[in-house]
Amino acid sequence: MLGGMSEPILAHRWHGSDGGLPLVLLHAFPLDRRMWDDLIDELSDLRILTLDAPGFGSSPAYSVVADRLGRSGEPSLETYADAVAATLRASGIDRAVVAGLSMGGYALLALAERHRSLLAGVALLDTKAEADGEEARAGRLAMAEAAERAEVSGDGAAEVVAPMAQAVLGGTTLAERPDVVSRVREWLAQAPAAGIAWAQRAMAARPTRLTAVEDLEVPGLVLRGAEDELSTQSSAEAMAERLRRQSTLKVVPRAGHLSAVESPAVVAGALRALHASATAHESGAPRN
Ligand code: MLT
Repeated sequence: MLGGMSEPILAHRWHGSDGGLPLVLLHAFPLDRRMWDDLIDELSDLRILTLDAPGFGSSPAYSVVADRLGRSGEPSLETYADAVAATLRASGIDRAVVAGLSMGGYALLALAERHRSLLAGVALLDTKAEADGEEARAGRLAMAEAAERAEVSGDGAAEVVAPMAQAVLGGTTLAERPDVVSRVREWLAQAPAAGIAWAQRAMAARPTRLTAVEDLEVPGLVLRGAEDELSTQSSAEAMAERLRRQSTLKVVPRAGHLSAVESPAVVAGALRALHASATAHESGAPRN
């Protein structure tokens, strides 16, 4: 079914140049592809595709996406990964470097598990491969329920996610970058209630996916902001160890969980290096 899909399912946009291996960017929760704007400005010579997750930005609702894929409406990152794969194939992409930040990284791990032939390189940014503990899972379900109540009452979910600004931005950004803080607060205020609900339920249900990157015979990057309190150094090291082939672990100083928003030039530099390795690898190495 996926192979025969002719229309892209997810909202997407091409940026940068026309040629070369595509770089695909998967955004964080509960944002949309606008979060990559500053980073893309640094990489205008690359061919970049940004996607909106189901129910975020301009993408169709999760239930519509699941229906188009012939999957159940049960929230899952597998459905998101299948939608990414279908959208890439419908856009003429059969190999790409894929970067995912936080929730985007969870989707990338599911993509590595289910559609690894699409991957010419992987960048796991401010994310982790371990499943949640009980407390984190309960917190996600509570937020999903609050978002569903906000959806029913028509109030919008701004208040549900507003406290996230403190958690996703690093201390340096919070203290010294009021422009970035207000942009992130604005994005959070626009986060869609139904999107928040399915995504939190899907993230709560995700399994540990450390094995998804084992034996992935393509270049890899693991990156985190030094001030990221949501994705730890030990989680990053665990992924980098498994991504043995040409993998790099980079820590971005003075950035928190939204490293690509807080320090776009540094993250762009790391993605450029990964893209160069993947391009060289594609031209020489056998594929897995
Ligand atoms: C994100 O930035 O995508 C979220 O922090 C993901 C999560 O809640 O684990």
